Amino acid sequence: MAFPARSLRTLACLAFSLAAAVTAKEYSNVADLPLSTYDFVIVGGGNAGLVVANRLTENPAWSVLVIEAGPSNLGILNEEVPALAGPLFAATSPYTWKYTVIPQENADNRQPGIPRGKMLGGSTAINEMWYTRGSAEDFDRFAAVTGDKGWGWDEMLPYFFKNERWTEPADKHNTTGQYDPAAHGTDGITAVSLPGYPWPIFDLVMETAASMPDEFPFVLDYNAGKPIGLGWTQTTINGGFRHSSAQSYLADQYISRPNLHVLVTAQVSRVLPASKGSTHFTKVEFSQDFETLHTVTATKEIILSAGSLATPQILLQSGIGNSTTLKRIGITPLVNLPAVGQNMTEQPLVSNSWFANTTQSYESYNLNATQMQIDLALWNETHTGPLVSSSGAQVAFLRLPEDSPILSTFSDPAAGPETPHIELEFTAGIGLVTPVPAGGGHFISVQAAVVSCASRGTVTLNETDPSPWNLPVIDTGLFREEFDFQTMVYAVKQIFKFLASPVWDGYLMQPLDALAPALESDAGLEAYIRSNVINNQHPVGTAGMSPKGASWGVTDPDLLLKKATGIRVIDSSVLPYVVSGHTMAATYAFAERGSDLVKATWAHH
Ligand SMILES: Cc1cc2nc3c(=O)[nH]c(=O)nc-3n(C[C@H](O)[C@H](O)[C@H](O)COP(=O)(O)OP(=O)(O)OC[C@H]3O[C@@H](n4cnc5c(N)ncnc54)[C@H](O)[C@@H]3O)c2cc1C
Ligand SMILES: *[C@@H]1O[C@H](CO)[C@@H](O)[C@H](O)[C@H]1NC(C)=O
Ligand SMILES: *[C@@H]1O[C@H](CO)[C@@H](O)[C@H](O)[C@H]1NC(C)=O
Ligand SMILES: *[C@@H]1O[C@H](CO)[C@@H](O)[C@H](O)[C@H]1NC(C)=O
Ligand SMILES: *[C@@H]1O[C@H](CO)[C@@H](O)[C@H](O)[C@H]1NC(C)=O
Ligand SMILES: *[C@@H]1O[C@H](CO)[C@@H](O)[C@H](O)[C@H]1NC(C)=O
Ligand SMILES: *[C@@H]1O[C@H](CO)[C@@H](O)[C@H](O)[C@H]1NC(C)=O
Ligand SMILES: *[C@@H]1O[C@H](CO)[C@@H](O)[C@H](O)[C@H]1NC(C)=O
Repeated sequence: MAFPARSLRTLACLAFSLAAAVTAKEYSNVADLPLSTYDFVIVGGGNAGLVVANRLTENPAWSVLVIEAGPSNLGILNEEVPALAGPLFAATSPYTWKYTVIPQENADNRQPGIPRGKMLGGSTAINEMWYTRGSAEDFDRFAAVTGDKGWGWDEMLPYFFKNERWTEPADKHNTTGQYDPAAHGTDGITAVSLPGYPWPIFDLVMETAASMPDEFPFVLDYNAGKPIGLGWTQTTINGGFRHSSAQSYLADQYISRPNLHVLVTAQVSRVLPASKGSTHFTKVEFSQDFETLHTVTATKEIILSAGSLATPQILLQSGIGNSTTLKRIGITPLVNLPAVGQNMTEQPLVSNSWFANTTQSYESYNLNATQMQIDLALWNETHTGPLVSSSGAQVAFLRLPEDSPILSTFSDPAAGPETPHIELEFTAGIGLVTPVPAGGGHFISVQAAVVSCASRGTVTLNETDPSPWNLPVIDTGLFREEFDFQTMVYAVKQIFKFLASPVWDGYLMQPLDALAPALESDAGLEAYIRSNVINNQHPVGTAGMSPKGASWGVTDPDLLLKKATGIRVIDSSVLPYVVSGHTMAATYAFAERGSDLVKATWAHH
């Protein structure tokens, strides 16, 4: 995640101009659904789920049903205008799950939020759209840890390309020298582009980096396998429009396929076996009113694509998990897979803000209703202007120095020597999670994330009320491992060093009150980090892959659930480690390969 400056705090009236649109092939009432048996039933129409729905329906002989808990994405202005994502993932959004995180003991017992998208497109409909694949070593580690070469970087590149359609930025500026064309696909489905509006900090960031090349080397393209360095951010933006998985993989030419049905506002509670006591799963149970239960049958496979928080919850509710725990809370255990919901990796993030001596920042429209109207009209007419961009336009992926005492004290969670430990995100505005000081102003913020982190968290059922309609208990494990905390301290210090460059004289003003003590002493910095750390919104690993036959893990390298048949998991929960960046691009590529694995299984059936 990258927190932008566009919560529209003063402009609530603009948010959610809903047309409640449903296309012909989307069903909002189960009674209208033409079939009750499909070849494939996909649970969750999000990032991964819609890729699988699209690819499987390329075969006209296969019928596919997607069951999505949220509504259609159509007719929601905020889901189209890139800069208006804030209200979509704010605590008050009608388009997120209301998950809470248990008090984080290494973060002053605070409970940082963990929203997930709840509409077609899933989290790609509400996220910040940063397109970062991770390092080649991240993927080579997936191959090594699962024993399946197919998850390695060279083998996965074609799947990144299959997903990606490199696209001109909204302002059509000359992008020579801002990316490596050889690293990108041009005829895929989801648009990826460079920043489409120039904020003044872009030049200052580049100038600073150029003056400190040892610590902040330029990287032409962080998506080419070796991300270390500072470069231009790529986002899934299509000529000024957000390109969610619903906007791309469910575009008219796909949703109109007669073999694809999409049921919205239907929440899945469980997967059910073919018969009592069987470990062959064929049925999906769901409800639209949280009372009446319905089931549909999948004759070939149930595909779980509900995301890294809901997929383990559905498995656990179905009796698939740690049998001892399930029995204790009154759920009949069907498959003993103790790793379900364990091993979650979530990255910590700290957003740091200063006043800026400028009249051009996200605050220009964020805090000025007149300016917002002007900018929105411009977006509407020409699909250009400040609303075409996501937060921030430059990013640095960096490593701890080789001689860092952190590396000699702790084992290194990074996948290899060309994999970053930290990420710094430069934003022309205040962070969304940071309250605007009374009196307003203009700001600059730089977010620090530990992208190769060691801590592990969990998703478990609520033991006092494990009902399917209750939310699971989520522990993101922030700073559970000291490596993550000390690395965050290093990361924030690197931001201070960067902004201390004379390049920022006359632009960078005083820090926000909360940040000020962090600049005074190490103790101040450490206290500040614990009281400001939040989730980076990249949890993975809760249904992690392991080698076939391994006693640990949840899924085999072909993404089939272990110790059962009929269920495949295709979403971010299968990544056994978090990639050293944001998680959407990897989820797209995993879903593309996952679709091919399904096709291979059923090629002759
Ligand atoms: C606010 C925010 C900002 C982010 N920013 C970025 C970014 O800039 N770049 C990046 O790479 N990543 C970002 N991410 C992370 C990224 O979006 C996710 O990791 C990724 O999209 C997850 O994909 P998924 O398919 O696993 O799950 P999702 O895309 O979340 O899809 C899961 C779908 O399943 C549905 N579902 C869940 N439970 C049920 C149920 N019981 N029944 C029916 N349907 C159900 C959900 O409603 C949802 O549509 C961000 C995430 C958030 C929340
Ligand atoms: C874009 O910039 C590059 C170098 O910066 C230059 O060589 C090229 O001619 C430019 N292209 C266009 C279309 O102006
Ligand atoms: C299953 O959960 C119980 C606690 O309910 C725990 O003691 C046990 O170690 C877990 N089993 C595994 C294999 O993790
Ligand atoms: C808000 O924006 C309008 C239009 O650009 C501008 O005229 C006005 O001065 C701005 N108001 C403030 C308080 O900055
Ligand atoms: C965009 O323009 C159209 C037609 O000019 C208008 O109907 C619509 O309300 C405008 N939308 C916004 C968000 O301004
Ligand atoms: C468990 O569910 C109950 C009932 O909804 C709720 O009051 C409680 O806070 C939940 N516990 C946790 C840890 O989320
Ligand atoms: C703010 O910037 C202007 C020029 O853009 C400069 O003249 C002025 O001195 C700056 N103010 C401070 C306090 O640095
Ligand atoms: C968590 O993952 C690691 C490797 O990725 C593995 O060694 C460990 O056994 C896993 N734990 C569980 C509970 O699956």
